[in-house]
Amino acid sequence: MRTTTGYSSAQILLHWGVALGVVFNYFVSEGMGRALDQNLGGEAVTVGVASWHVWVGVAVLVLAVLRIVLRLTRGGPPPEPGLLGKVASAMHGLLYVLILLVPALGALAWFGAIDAVGEPHALLANVMVILAALHALGGFYHHLVLKDGILRRMLRPA
Ligand code: HEM
Ligand code: HEM
Repeated sequence: MRTTTGYSSAQILLHWGVALGVVFNYFVSEGMGRALDQNLGGEAVTVGVASWHVWVGVAVLVLAVLRIVLRLTRGGPPPEPGLLGKVASAMHGLLYVLILLVPALGALAWFGAIDAVGEPHALLANVMVILAALHALGGFYHHLVLKDGILRRMLRPA
């Protein structure tokens, strides 16, 4: 894959857009199990947050696809050398899989009426948020302890 000196403004915008959507949907999800039962049972959905959860989640899916296409075509900066760089790259790979898989499973449950994928969706959403929190801690470690400007790579286009 092409290596660059940094991320473009579109890549940075997409990174923070996806992060915001993921965090929003994690907290705005209570009652979604009941909403799914109502939706699949053909009843009116009375869970107020359901449409927010569904549409913000669909937006995350679209932005994640754009993000991955851009990463593959435009490239990105190389990982740091050594074990820390390998761990960070593996974490990024996992996060890319999860920002696609989690909303896709949610959409399959909701629009595809496949009840059985509702639970894996909720479980993997929790895994994704835990990994994203570790990833963010890594970012702050770079910024506050290593002071190597890595966090700035996701703030200033280059
Ligand atoms: C970034 C994306 C998303 C995140 C972080 C996320 C997170 C969550 C979480 C944490 C739950 C568990 C809620 C609970 O049990 O109290 C949940 C449930 C659910 N979500 Fe999402 N979600 C996302 C995207 C979507 C999308 C795109 C849809 C549908 C188009 C969706 C539909 C559902 C449904 C139907 C449930 C209930 C599943 C069940 O209990 O069987 N989600 N989601
Ligand atoms: C749900 C939340 C998040 C997700 C899914 C996510 C996902 C990702 C992914 C997949 C990459 C790899 C980019 C590439 O292809 O090179 C990345 C990079 C990065 N993320 Fe996040 N991220 C999230 C939240 C955060 C937060 C809260 C921070 C703040 C500390 C952060 C800081 C960074 C930084 C600094 C990079 C660039 C790393 C580098 O250049 O080596 N991310 N993120």
